[in-house]
Amino acid sequence: MGTLLGKVALVTGGSRGIGAAIVRRLAREGADVAFTYVSPTSAEKAKELVAEVAAEGRRAVAVEADSAVADAVTAAVDRTAAELGRLDVLVNNAGVFPYGPVGDVTADELDRVLAIHAKAPVVAAQAALRHLPDGGRIITIGTNFSDRAVLPNIVLYTMSKSAVTGLTRALARELGPRGITVNAVNPGPTATDMNPVDGEGADEVRAGTALGRFLQPDDVAATVAHLAGPGGDLITGTVLTVDAGVNA
Ligand SMILES: NC(=O)c1ccc[n+]([C@@H]2O[C@H](COP(=O)([O-])OP(=O)(O)OC[C@H]3O[C@@H](n4cnc5c(N)ncnc54)[C@H](OP(=O)(O)O)[C@@H]3O)[C@@H](O)[C@H]2O)c1
Repeated sequence: MGTLLGKVALVTGGSRGIGAAIVRRLAREGADVAFTYVSPTSAEKAKELVAEVAAEGRRAVAVEADSAVADAVTAAVDRTAAELGRLDVLVNNAGVFPYGPVGDVTADELDRVLAIHAKAPVVAAQAALRHLPDGGRIITIGTNFSDRAVLPNIVLYTMSKSAVTGLTRALARELGPRGITVNAVNPGPTATDMNPVDGEGADEVRAGTALGRFLQPDDVAATVAHLAGPGGDLITGTVLTVDAGVNA
């Protein structure tokens, strides 16, 4: 603990699930943390998370920003640096789970999901580069489905998330000279609102893992914290799958 003392992080989609676990974990490591959310129903949760982080002695800022809107993403990055004084770690986590046959996908849905999963991480990275010091971190949450599509009806989700791998590898090469690392974490089934442990098909999901269990959000957050801290100094351009063995 304490590996991120004096650092500032921004986590997109930090109000719930994996993002909230990342906010808590980075704060526990000593970072001040800004995070975004989009749903009006999450405003109260966001406020509670800010208070929770503050109670542990770190600063937190909740920013309402729709990742599908490029200007909002840029503004969230700039606001983080302005309010918390710097930016060392960008975590692109905000995501949605469109599920259904590809024939049902509308043009608007295609645009929106691509904007959230593929475009927002690029826009956030562009904005972050104006603030990140040498040795900074960019971490994006993808999905294990990018390696193996283990069920049908996930074309839009998997296609849009697969862009994360390309961004990660190419940007790592570009930013290496500055010591900025760029990595992706590809979670498998993680117990959140997006993938409830008691939801329809949860038993099949569990059976599809080698370890016979869902991940908890903290399991993903632990990998993000490792990449964000000194343990991640020499890890760049890589995609770490954390999926309880779904893709084994
Ligand atoms: N759970 C899994 O099994 C699993 C597996 C692999 C990958 N992932 C990925 O992990 C990430 C987090 O998922 P999760 O399971 O924690 O999902 P979740 O519980 O549904 O939480 C999603 C988070 O993203 C935010 N968000 C969604 N759309 C947004 C937008 N347009 N702009 C800003 N924020 C937005 C939500 O904000 P609001 O609270 O405001 O709605 C919320 O904080 C996603 O990228 C997801 O694809 C999850």
